[in-house]
Amino acid sequence: TYVIAQPCVDVKDRSCVEECPVDCIYEGRRALYIHADECVDCGACEPVCPVEAVFFEADLPAEWHGYRASTTEFFAVGGAGGGAASSGPYDHDSTLVAALEPRNT
Ligand code: F3S
Ligand code: F3S
Repeated sequence: TYVIAQPCVDVKDRSCVEECPVDCIYEGRRALYIHADECVDCGACEPVCPVEAVFFEADLPAEWHGYRASTTEFFAVGGAGGGAASSGPYDHDSTLVAALEPRNT
């Protein structure tokens, strides 16, 4: 799967959402999250993000490895799935994202 990491937090450009053919990028309060079971690894989201927040999971920079588990937690708490357009946005974030200092970018 692909994973959205820290650069997305408080930016939420959403260009990735428009590119995804299976609507598996879900919106939280401060960031977006890719549903690992629904992502078909097409990779369309990665090049369109202006802040380079999207990575194939194996290519996640070391400092952001935690975003894989963080994403799993986001979906476990929210019960999201079955299409982002019809189910989101959600009023929560993963513990990792929620704990970050606010950014005004
Ligand atoms: Fe976030 Fe980049 Fe998508 S900022 S919403 S991952 S285009
Ligand atoms: Fe969608 Fe990106 Fe996966 S465009 S299918 S979330 S690789």
